[in-house]
Amino acid sequence: MIRSEILGCGSYLPERCVTNDELAKTVDTSDEWIRSRSGIAQRHFAAEGEYTSDLAYVAATRALEHAGVDVSELDLIVCATATPDNTFPSTATKVQQKLGMTKGAAFDVQAVCSGFVYGLAVADNFIKCGQAKTVLLIGAETFSRILDWTDRSTCVLFGDGAGAIVMRAMEEQPEVPGNGAGHNSGRGVLSTHIHSDGSHYDMLYVDGGPSTTQTVGHLRMNGREVFRHAVTNLASIVDEALDANGLERSDLDWLVPHQANKRIIDSTARKLGMNADNVVLTVEKHANTSAASIPLALDSAVKDGRIKRGDLILLEAMGGGLTWGAGLVRW
Ligand code: ACO
Repeated sequence: MIRSEILGCGSYLPERCVTNDELAKTVDTSDEWIRSRSGIAQRHFAAEGEYTSDLAYVAATRALEHAGVDVSELDLIVCATATPDNTFPSTATKVQQKLGMTKGAAFDVQAVCSGFVYGLAVADNFIKCGQAKTVLLIGAETFSRILDWTDRSTCVLFGDGAGAIVMRAMEEQPEVPGNGAGHNSGRGVLSTHIHSDGSHYDMLYVDGGPSTTQTVGHLRMNGREVFRHAVTNLASIVDEALDANGLERSDLDWLVPHQANKRIIDSTARKLGMNADNVVLTVEKHANTSAASIPLALDSAVKDGRIKRGDLILLEAMGGGLTWGAGLVRW
């Protein structure tokens, strides 16, 4: 059986870092309000003239280097983003151009904050069905470009950034000592699970677009309702992922959640009975970077040595749509 192995990861944050106090100079808010409601202390914003594809490109080159993979070996680029450079072409093809890659295929996946988990499902299935061997999966966003700076209930919660992983088909599962035998002992993506419910479209959306207003529009959110659905949907998706693999909560080494809000993450961790040391938390430093938040968090925990080869990792996210999903990965 073919499985997708994750060979390496990389990430990029724009240089400009804005603290809550700095934001409070132009928005009617406070460090105390933002921290207590969301766990956010700062966020990064892309510079003028710096686009989603620029962030994605740097994250991609870092991931390729970490993986030891040359661009010429790639046959697919999937970019998860809700803030593409342009309506078309896809941001993935712009990254392809920057990388100097002229073969294979590249396209975007749009599932807002669940984008990286959706992208993981797409890439994993392309690999499993034999249509791609080596895939670059990116999550990249410039949410600062779609925020309404007069709406303090949303503009304080988001930031810009990008993260990427390189995945490759492997024919055989290498045994990981200490993980027992069978399907779950080998490295790679064990399973992915994605869901959506379009009836909640108006809970979290952008009020513009090429077909409606011919403008980019601004992010609109019913924060309380999103919070309520996030807690319920994420609790059920983590069980779905574990059940599908015959695994227990106690088998997990790491939770790498979408970084929307510390209170939502704490609630999922409590449900899994995981202690805080096993939850990768970057929302304090990055805020909510939508599709980029999981690969940014993953990269930070891999590079600082917390996540090690053979560790079992649960990735989960919920976002506009509503969309939600999870992926179980043996690193
Ligand atoms: N600073 C200061 N006060 C504020 C701010 C702000 N930035 N924003 C709102 N307030 C005020 C409101 O005006 C309100 O004041 P009032 O009581 O005088 O009317 C008060 O704070 C409470 O407002 P609520 O919206 O009820 O605050 P709540 O406790 O629900 O927190 C929050 C809001 C943080 C948005 C919360 O609902 C939440 O975390 N929701 C989930 C949002 C989320 O995570 N979204 C992303 C997930 S999906 C994705 O990633 C795309």
